[in-house]
Amino acid sequence: VNILAFAASHRPESSNKKLLLNAVSAAKAIGAHVEVMEYEQLDSPLFKDTHSLELPAVIQDFADKLKDIDGLMIASPEYNWSFPGSLKNIIDWLSVIKPSPLANKTAFLLSATPGARGGIMGLQQLKTPLEALQMHVFHKVFPLPHAHQALTADGILVNPEQHNSLTAQVNGYLAFTAALKA
Ligand SMILES: Cc1cc2nc3c(=O)[nH]c(=O)nc-3n(C[C@H](O)[C@H](O)[C@H](O)COP(=O)(O)O)c2cc1C
Repeated sequence: VNILAFAASHRPESSNKKLLLNAVSAAKAIGAHVEVMEYEQLDSPLFKDTHSLELPAVIQDFADKLKDIDGLMIASPEYNWSFPGSLKNIIDWLSVIKPSPLANKTAFLLSATPGARGGIMGLQQLKTPLEALQMHVFHKVFPLPHAHQALTADGILVNPEQHNSLTAQVNGYLAFTAALKA
């Protein structure tokens, strides 16, 4: 299966980017093709619902890339018990393209936060607009609490149980994606 992956953070030391790369390694280890995008590649102006709506080139490029993929892996920070506005902005831009470039694609959602809940509330909310645009969001999400201790500076998951759990979820997600594709 073909997967596109990005972390919704602009920070060079992003915990979400580190967590994402662990999931990407697990996916590649069982033969998935995964392309990682930098979040900057999706930087877009604020969406405004006006008659002179002009699709940004980055959004058109993203929609074109989505044509060739089966699923998206998104690692998202939690901001104020929700997901970042910049990510909602990208989703809103995609929503004006018909048919939905996200339709029938799968999504695997992850989050890393310094807090105790690992961003679970943000992930629950992120599911909603993705499903509105006809994505099949994998039922298991991966919230990583206390991310600054859970990941080394090099981005390795310290706890083998967490590593195994992430690998199992990624395997489940890829099987789900392959089944839908078939
Ligand atoms: C505006 C803002 C709001 C935040 N709100 C939350 C929150 O609700 N829950 C939480 O666990 N962390 C929250 N944080 C902390 C982020 O989880 C933390 O900065 C995290 O490292 C961001 O992800 P990144 O490392 O991938 O950039 C917030 C950070 C910012 C900048």
